[in-house]
Amino acid sequence: MLPDQGWPRQRVLETLDAYCQRDANWRDGRTFSLVYHAGDEIKDLLQAAFLRVFSENALNPMAFPSLRRMETEVLAMVAPLLGDPQAVGTLTSGGTESILMAVKTARDWARQHRPEITRPQMLVPTTVHPAFHKAAHYFDVEAVLVPVGQDFRADAAAARQLCTDNTILVVGSSFAYPHGVIDPIAELAALASERGILCHVDACLGGMILPFVEELTAQEGVPTLPAWDLRVAGVTSISCDLHKYGYTAKGASVVLYRNRDLRRHQFLGYADWPGGLWASPSAAGTRPGGPIAAAWAVMHFLGRQGYLRLAREALTATQELLVGLQAIPGLKVLGQPVATVLAFTMEDGDIYRLGDAMQARGWHLDRQQLPPALHAMITAAHAAHMPALLADLRAAAEEVRGLPPADDGQAAMYGMMGTLPDRGLANELIVSFLDSLDDPNQAGPA
Ligand SMILES: Cc1ncc(COP(=O)(O)O)c(C=O)c1O
Repeated sequence: MLPDQGWPRQRVLETLDAYCQRDANWRDGRTFSLVYHAGDEIKDLLQAAFLRVFSENALNPMAFPSLRRMETEVLAMVAPLLGDPQAVGTLTSGGTESILMAVKTARDWARQHRPEITRPQMLVPTTVHPAFHKAAHYFDVEAVLVPVGQDFRADAAAARQLCTDNTILVVGSSFAYPHGVIDPIAELAALASERGILCHVDACLGGMILPFVEELTAQEGVPTLPAWDLRVAGVTSISCDLHKYGYTAKGASVVLYRNRDLRRHQFLGYADWPGGLWASPSAAGTRPGGPIAAAWAVMHFLGRQGYLRLAREALTATQELLVGLQAIPGLKVLGQPVATVLAFTMEDGDIYRLGDAMQARGWHLDRQQLPPALHAMITAAHAAHMPALLADLRAAAEEVRGLPPADDGQAAMYGMMGTLPDRGLANELIVSFLDSLDDPNQAGPA
């Protein structure tokens, strides 16, 4: 309940601190997603920039030209990194909003250019981020699943088979979250352009590291990455999160289109509102200034050399992890990760038990399914912790090797959910879990 009398400031802040005590400790490199930390110097800069425009609102670009300028400059910095300096876009609140906008744009583009299509479909690999399924629900575009091959990359031949007269959009990821591999973007984009439809690349995860990985590997003469961005003809839009490998404050992503005509389908204007002439570029109404200023600040502060350094450190740490994983009997990396995100499984034991055993040692490796695996998303901040991580992985693997699947803890929950034949029921169960989260008994001690 709202307190009748406001609390003293000190009580407010102390209570907040108490609430935070049980949160995952990302500061010592023990979490592998959710937080992208590039050091305290950058964190301080992000906070300072965020606070400068803490109260400002990018909803009205006339009122705060500073935010509009920063947004334009951020987009102009990102577009060449993603392969087309002429591309135009919008800054959004995150990967999900960028993806929602790309799918809405495709739907509205098809309404204009393919009015005969009444039940639009989009082709999405099974590994694509669930934000596309959210978009499918929100915008009434059917998501048609494209299988992935042994290498966990979308099967382009299968995509071709699945393409129908109702397909309006083909999607690939650079790289996909589950296994850190790049889908065959050139083949997917070729399919889209042959059919005269759109192709979106989800580079939410890879967009701010792959350009630098490419530059580093080119310097070392290592084989280059497969084509992954707007350099591929036929790719019509791309999403790229700044709050992941762009190392900015949360709430910043970019969605870019090949040209203004495409982007127009994202925007909405409403000239008949008594409250005034209204136009909005994206899903949000009020748009906080903080994430825009923080993104602008960190990109200027790091520059290309700074991002190259961070990419090099993250790649070196990932290499150490890959070599170390190979040396632990029974552990196997899935597919061939192209950069700093990977998944591994256990051939002589229950990988979910390994996850629980690592959790007991304080490491939060995300669980995956289909097939069962643990997931690691490496940043420069993990570099110093690799020896400790590998030592614990070796000990935990020894502890669980040969044991049957667990019947308690997260391991049992994941084991059960992965094998439940009724996927509708599986969806119901996870939604019920969401529904239970506002139960005060779940929220933790006050
Ligand atoms: C490949 C990919 N796309 C999209 C997203 C969604 O991003 P957000 O969580 O910022 O909405 C993620 C998040 O991890 C991702 O990995």
